[in-house]
Amino acid sequence: MTTTHTLSDVAAISLAAVRTLEQHGLDYCCGGKQNFGEACAAKGLNPDSVMQEIEQAKAGSAEERDWHTAPLGELAQHIVATHHAYLKRELPVLSARMDKVQEVHGPSDAETLARMGGVFAALREEMELHMHKEEAILFPFIERYGVAEAKGIPMPPVPFGTIANPIAMMEREHKSAGGALLEIRALTHDYLLPPYACSTVAALYAGLQILEADLHVHIHLENNILFPRAIALEKR
Ligand SMILES: [Fe+2]
Ligand SMILES: [Fe+2]
Repeated sequence: MTTTHTLSDVAAISLAAVRTLEQHGLDYCCGGKQNFGEACAAKGLNPDSVMQEIEQAKAGSAEERDWHTAPLGELAQHIVATHHAYLKRELPVLSARMDKVQEVHGPSDAETLARMGGVFAALREEMELHMHKEEAILFPFIERYGVAEAKGIPMPPVPFGTIANPIAMMEREHKSAGGALLEIRALTHDYLLPPYACSTVAALYAGLQILEADLHVHIHLENNILFPRAIALEKR
């Protein structure tokens, strides 16, 4: 891997790479098509030293599943069991926290809180529908692709012409979710607690930050590994 690769190529090395990119604020997810070296330079980072850090993190991390070679169906199931399950569990919890914060602190910061509540509500609605589309339509086909590959039989035909069509739609929705996370980050000034923060505000900010990290890894696994592998299988 060299510094001329894209951020998404670098992120695909390992989850340790994802974490390192995250620590440096490098957007491997929706901004993943950017050149790694240029993205580092734009943040005033030395690309070679960040790359070295990534290599070291990879060497030091416990063995993790290599999703480039694992059966495709297993990756789809992992995403559902880990990341979709997390969202289904946490989005309602965060909504309740957001409501409580608005109720208690609305008068202290009306404009920001209203905007944040709106962005979050739209993100929740979009993600719930999005996961439903993946689980009900796209992922079952991807799993069938995985089975066809393992058995060495032709790919099953898909009702949407090419699998690239629903994938392009999912990627557009990922981009929109990424935009919502960026907006929440800006509204919270990088999750800096406001002076009026009580424990609920602190819990809300902490939860939103975990949501951001989880959603980044989730979108990364889909955009950078699952979807390209499915498209490559179809073209085979
Ligand atoms: Fe997903
Ligand atoms: Fe997705």
